[in-house]
Amino acid sequence: MNIAANPVVEADQTIYLKDYQKPAFLVDSINLDIQVYADHTIVNAILEMQRQTEGDLVLLGRDLELKSIHLNSQQLTENDYQLDAEQLVIQNAPDRARIETQVVIHPESNTMLEGLYQAGDLFVTQNEPEGFRKITFYPDRPDVLSVFTTRVEADKKYPVLLANGNLIEKGEVDAQRHYAIWQDPTKKPSYLFACVVGDLAVLKDSYVTSEGRNVALEIYAVEKDIPKCHIAMETLKHSMRWDEEHYGLPYDLDNYMIVAVSQFNMGAMENKGLNIFNTSCVLADEEYTTDAAIMRVQSVIAHEYFHNWTGNRITCRDWFQLCLKEGLTVFRDQSFSEDLQSAAVQRIDDVAVLKAHQFPEDSGPLSHPPRPDHFVEINNFYTATVYEKGAEINRMMSTLLGKEKFRAGTDEYFRRHDGQAVTVEDWVAALTAGSGVDLSAFLTWYNQPGTPKLQAHGEYEASTQTYRLSFKQSLKAHPKYPDLKAVPIPVALALFNAETGEQYTLQSEALFENGVKDGVYLFDQDEATIEFSGINAKPVVSLLRNFSAPVNLEFDASDAELAFLMQYETNGFNQWQATQTLLERILLNGHAVESYLQAMKNTVPALVNQDPLLASRIFDVPTEGYLGSRIDQHYSPVDIQEKREALLNTLARELGAFCKETYLSLDPDLQKEFSQAMGVRALKNIMLSLMARQGDTEAFDLAHQQYQNTGNMSERLGALRVLVWNDAPQAESCLQDFYDRFKDEALSLDQWFTVQASHPNATAETIHTLTQHPDYDLGTPNRIRSVSGGLNMNPVNTWSFGVQHYIHLAKYLDEKNPILGSRLLQVLSRWYTLDEPQRSQVQVALETLKPLVKSKNVVETLNSMLNV
Ligand code: TRP
Ligand code: ZN
Repeated sequence: MNIAANPVVEADQTIYLKDYQKPAFLVDSINLDIQVYADHTIVNAILEMQRQTEGDLVLLGRDLELKSIHLNSQQLTENDYQLDAEQLVIQNAPDRARIETQVVIHPESNTMLEGLYQAGDLFVTQNEPEGFRKITFYPDRPDVLSVFTTRVEADKKYPVLLANGNLIEKGEVDAQRHYAIWQDPTKKPSYLFACVVGDLAVLKDSYVTSEGRNVALEIYAVEKDIPKCHIAMETLKHSMRWDEEHYGLPYDLDNYMIVAVSQFNMGAMENKGLNIFNTSCVLADEEYTTDAAIMRVQSVIAHEYFHNWTGNRITCRDWFQLCLKEGLTVFRDQSFSEDLQSAAVQRIDDVAVLKAHQFPEDSGPLSHPPRPDHFVEINNFYTATVYEKGAEINRMMSTLLGKEKFRAGTDEYFRRHDGQAVTVEDWVAALTAGSGVDLSAFLTWYNQPGTPKLQAHGEYEASTQTYRLSFKQSLKAHPKYPDLKAVPIPVALALFNAETGEQYTLQSEALFENGVKDGVYLFDQDEATIEFSGINAKPVVSLLRNFSAPVNLEFDASDAELAFLMQYETNGFNQWQATQTLLERILLNGHAVESYLQAMKNTVPALVNQDPLLASRIFDVPTEGYLGSRIDQHYSPVDIQEKREALLNTLARELGAFCKETYLSLDPDLQKEFSQAMGVRALKNIMLSLMARQGDTEAFDLAHQQYQNTGNMSERLGALRVLVWNDAPQAESCLQDFYDRFKDEALSLDQWFTVQASHPNATAETIHTLTQHPDYDLGTPNRIRSVSGGLNMNPVNTWSFGVQHYIHLAKYLDEKNPILGSRLLQVLSRWYTLDEPQRSQVQVALETLKPLVKSKNVVETLNSMLNV
């Protein structure tokens, strides 16, 4: 009957926020029956629908083979409805409509990892944002909430049959097959539906909520990975407690299940009561995964759990509101992680991600507001802007309100909107009502693209002991958003006595009383000046402490003042920021390196002992990729690489003895806390890499010993990197050893691919060899990314032979997995900043791709990229 291919982008398929209309019909309940067979799956659905406004009854469906459809028990024929590649429409439907459909789908050949798909020996779903329409005909939009009952039937060789909610029945069909029936009592949109069929082992635990509910906790994974699930389980319980304590939000069902899948497009998915996770975001074990990966597991576990309230209980009215749930949930998981390790270091890591991904995105052809007002393919909008900038907007409002008022605001949000599908306006209105502080000006942040530039200028007047600080904000013009407005910018700041290093107690009428210890000034005009009195000498000023707003700060502090902040700033984040600003000036603007080196020598020895984790970040040197993103024209990756290498060599030479001494004196096993041990490991690896720059054979020997004598992946991989990237004589044998040890451990093997793909002198040949390796697999996004992501760690390589790599992948994935294809192509989005002849070469390559791709995902991305 009707099998529609992946639709081709024709004419203008843009969808606009302003065109939002309520659906004519809602669904009171849905009964699903999913029968999985080796070569097809049958899906029977019964929808109890009810009219809410006038209009047609619209069921969305894609790639579905329709076998039969009944309306109120009457079989419909092709004359009774209109069916195209996207939807089935019934005109003049009665106000109460019971729709019964039978369709056939093919999870076994679904490579898009969307809808129901087979991954190895496992059948799983991914329905956000629009996957459910690939399972059955349904009003697949987030403002239709329904009660789901699901029967899952499969061969007994798949003992695990899961769906959302409570298991209400389980039994045999015949000798060969069995079934399970699940009912989810909570009304939910279809994007939160999940089911799983497979042969998995399970780790069980339980948790008692603040309301006394006993919740069964289960993590499903392949048998050999179960020992790697304990950290995730502990983190889950910790998240549950944290949400009760910080937001007053207890869990609402009797069970919470997590399933680990090795083929998954993103990090994880918050399906109600049945999260599905990329293995990379659930498996955590010192022997097989790095410290950074363990931190990521903890933040993603918390993220998906927190979605239960911010996303599931209160969901989005439409997909333009995606940042309502994602921005808030990222802000919540970042706050959770700040409690797990040092808050300053967590903030450093989060801001580093923001600046490395969101800032470049927002300054290029893919720039869009956190809440876009149009799109072609919603999957292209799961972006750093929606997630990370969205989180920053919430952080700004929370900074302004302070803990208590922010909590009053969120309480009001949950009181007003539980069980609803709402908008960003509803969120800001509830925060305003609950806190008593008008936050409506923050809506501008949601609606405009671009990173504001914040210019600050300070003047000291000795005669009156007054310090004046003037601010100016501006945004780069954007063709699609002509009237850009000033945004409210909370500026957390501190003034230091330049002689003593002490902080002034701030007196200024402009400062906001908010219960946080930093002074915060809310700058919400185009220009303004504030005054501080009682300042007895020209102060050193630290602005945007803790990165209080996602802006590009241009402050005319001297290099000496930044060096001062590297030493005396008590806010760990701004201490780090001072080093980064100084390094940017050195690497991009040709400033002298001396103040930086001197400040490092003054600061680092004490810090290494006091706070090795923070010390490990103070050694950060902005990556070549980040530095490149700061350049808008005539960008030469080779030039940036040379300058950065020269700086690292200078640092290594100047601190040579210190590095060795520090390396030998540090022992992670002496640390009590995981986060401190992680800091020591990170610091030791940095010391080792600086030592190895000198071509020091002793450094290679130390790296070799570290490689061999550890059972910890961060130590082993840190050492392997140093050996491989410096072409040490031990490199080959260690790579072989690593492969032999971990060839059956996918996540560890990913690291083996990455360490080679990210070799600074990797060539097209290196990448070719890796992608021809028997363990390379185009069906596993993690494995693709292990090579593509590694390659992209060296922009010189990305912009030379890498261009063809990304273009080939985009072309191949256009059909097989367009979500991933579109994402990988975005690596090239800043092509237009390159110096000639590279700029034209990449342009030609992108133009050549144009006629070869069809998916909305890749076409929309490519069109935007070429439209600069
Ligand atoms: N809602 C998920 C999260 O942020 C995101 C997600 C998971 C997703 N899988 C996806 C988005 C696939 C698009 C496609 O937690
Ligand atoms: Zn999320």
